[in-house]
Amino acid sequence: MSLNYDHIFSQAIDRLHEEGRYRVFIDILRNKGAYPNARCFAHHNGPKPITVWCSNDYLGMGQHPKVVAAMEEALHDVGAGSGGTRNIGGNTHYHVDLEHELADLHAKEGALLFTSGYVSNEATLSTLAKILPGCVIFSDELNHASMIAGIRNSGCEKRVWRHNDLAHLEEMLAATDPDAPKLIAFESVYSMDGDVAPIAAICDLADQYNALTYCDEVHAVGMYGARGGGITERDDVADRVTIIEGTLGKAFGVMGGYIAADKTVVDVIRSYAPGFIFTTSLSPVLVAGVLASVRHLKSSCEERAAQQRHARLLKDHLLEAGLPVLESQTHIVPLLVGDPVKAKRIADILLAEYGIYVQPINYPTVPRGTERLRFTPGPDHNEDMIRGLTDALTEIWGRLELEMIKAA
Ligand SMILES: Cc1ncc(COP(=O)(O)O)c(C=O)c1O
Repeated sequence: MSLNYDHIFSQAIDRLHEEGRYRVFIDILRNKGAYPNARCFAHHNGPKPITVWCSNDYLGMGQHPKVVAAMEEALHDVGAGSGGTRNIGGNTHYHVDLEHELADLHAKEGALLFTSGYVSNEATLSTLAKILPGCVIFSDELNHASMIAGIRNSGCEKRVWRHNDLAHLEEMLAATDPDAPKLIAFESVYSMDGDVAPIAAICDLADQYNALTYCDEVHAVGMYGARGGGITERDDVADRVTIIEGTLGKAFGVMGGYIAADKTVVDVIRSYAPGFIFTTSLSPVLVAGVLASVRHLKSSCEERAAQQRHARLLKDHLLEAGLPVLESQTHIVPLLVGDPVKAKRIADILLAEYGIYVQPINYPTVPRGTERLRFTPGPDHNEDMIRGLTDALTEIWGRLELEMIKAA
């Protein structure tokens, strides 16, 4: 009997539908200069105005006049693409400038650009561990899929420590051959709960057990620290972390990823990582936009301060309304639903009836039973919007007879 491939693929899709976690992507265009306002194309009678509540363009930098102008200028000056891999096409001068800017941001000797944060994690972690024979990687259990992919592709031994649990990490370090190379991999801000890693204490353990440290600052760069250098800058521990990794696609508003580290570490990744070497480098237009964004956020705290203010305000409103908000330590505001079908239903009502866009978050991004709505208020979400969102959620919670919490 011949295999029915189509049937197998359809069954895989059906399983997602049955669990209520089939992903549907919204069709939108953002309105430049009026973020978080956008147009949604899900309707036959023309685009409908919506407010975006879940973008990771955390500070609205994707529309900042300096960023847009820099990209326009670069496009007119040097054209659209980079011309291939850096090995073949060379470094565009924009790439060189941005790597200097990022090294300076993290007070490191060097930085290296990748086409995304995902690629930077996968390429760096998989390469590092291959260069260190017998390396053992200690990975926080909530690390992002890109770090997990890099660790898996390194082929080295992996030990998973309970999330932010230093005692468990120490137990694992102590039980490992003292002579084996070791790497502790973790994030600074965890994007689904909005909690923060105890970086200084992790570095203490790294010193004690002679381990390297790798910190993913994807959800922190641009937003924490006096110059946007992330939690490592805020907590004054950047010099203690071996490799800091970040994205250029979230708070910096454009696209790309990077690592910052000592020059030998950067050189070894540049020289050995297939995910860096064998792919066309970022368009100079994108890099020019990021340069403007990083430079702006190094000197301006206005966006960071407004983001923190609005996140606090939204948390307070939701708590006051008795909605089950998770008290995150950061700008991320998760609202617990605990069921994928209900989470999708709430998001559908918000969009259809209130013009509010928030994407439900399901397994495997979060553990089953902790499905949620994840709000990312930024500098441009004003008080009226925050009040409107809270009122809409309160009405829907009542309509669907969902559980409330007691007001704080
Ligand atoms: C913790 C973390 N690391 C890395 C990435 C990947 O970054 P990028 O979107 O630039 O590929 C993400 C993306 O959401 C992330 O959440």
